[in-house]
Amino acid sequence: MGKKVTVVGAGFYGSTTAQRLAEYDVFDTVVITDIIEGKPAGIALDLNQSRAVEGFETTVVGVTTGPNGEGYEGIEGSDVVVITAGLPRKPGMSRMDLLETNAKIVRQVAENVAKYAPNAVVIVVSNPLDEMTALAQIATQFPRNRVLGQAGMLDTARFTNFVAEALQVPVKSVKTLTLGSHGDTMVPVPSQSSVNGKPLREVMPAEQIEDLVVRTRNGGAEVVALLKTGSAYYAPSAAAARMAKAVAEDSGEVMPVCAWVDGEYGISGVYLGVEAEIGAQGVKRVVETDLDADELAALREAAEAVRAKQADVASM
Ligand code: APR
Repeated sequence: MGKKVTVVGAGFYGSTTAQRLAEYDVFDTVVITDIIEGKPAGIALDLNQSRAVEGFETTVVGVTTGPNGEGYEGIEGSDVVVITAGLPRKPGMSRMDLLETNAKIVRQVAENVAKYAPNAVVIVVSNPLDEMTALAQIATQFPRNRVLGQAGMLDTARFTNFVAEALQVPVKSVKTLTLGSHGDTMVPVPSQSSVNGKPLREVMPAEQIEDLVVRTRNGGAEVVALLKTGSAYYAPSAAAARMAKAVAEDSGEVMPVCAWVDGEYGISGVYLGVEAEIGAQGVKRVVETDLDADELAALREAAEAVRAKQADVASM
């Protein structure tokens, strides 16, 4: 049977994710939902009219949902659900400032996902990311491997882009990695970063690497400050859509994602940014990467910081 993916939230992140998923032309159906009357239907109509030009057969369906779960029957049978519902940051805000508002939204969405798409893999992108991913698992009661968050792919893509620009080399020749939280305790990993297979530390001075690490950690805020209304969505939607595709195709691709960690790196019982194999059941396996002593210490510190916050969301 053909694959079905749902994107909850038809704002900037949701609509660009739906577009990318439709243009892959690997799904039968892309459903996009929102609480705003007409908006998802309008986006679906517009995207479907691009099919003849872009040459894809995927059908996009727009559904407006109500406060009591009205409309959610439209997501039935989804293999993957991407949750983008929630407020974005304004200039000067941290992702954590969105915690309470987005917790209410994500909990309501997740409960309906559990009811109407009980077998779906859930990919959370709403912020603050690590906390909203933990909350979605609590609210759905899905097995932990079937709930994951998008952040590491985006942060890694940002780091890669900065390195490629700084060295004036093709992005293809650059490999970087970021782990940890999608926030202040993000852990860019220079020891696992390379340019044309050469360690990054051999081709770039330490101070410059540190500047790019800091810029990566603040990558989202830099975009927010320029846009002034709303937050980034082109790179974020590229990352989320690739994750959904890996699930649909059961590809087993290794991606940096927010996943449940249970013993890896000596860390247990927390959603954290790590590398993982992605397939039809979500996270197949967390991949433990070799880290320097200070990178490992930073990852453990990140785990404790998000653990405290994730405990708070259980009651939200
Ligand atoms: N169900 C479905 N959609 C909802 C709900 C809900 N309960 N509550 C809000 N929404 C919708 C809004 O109506 C809006 O259309 O979520 C959409 C959010 O869109 P934008 O404001 O454009 O925000 P966007 O840039 O898409 O970011 C969404 O991703 O990166 C994160 O921090 C960002 O949490 C934010 C999320």
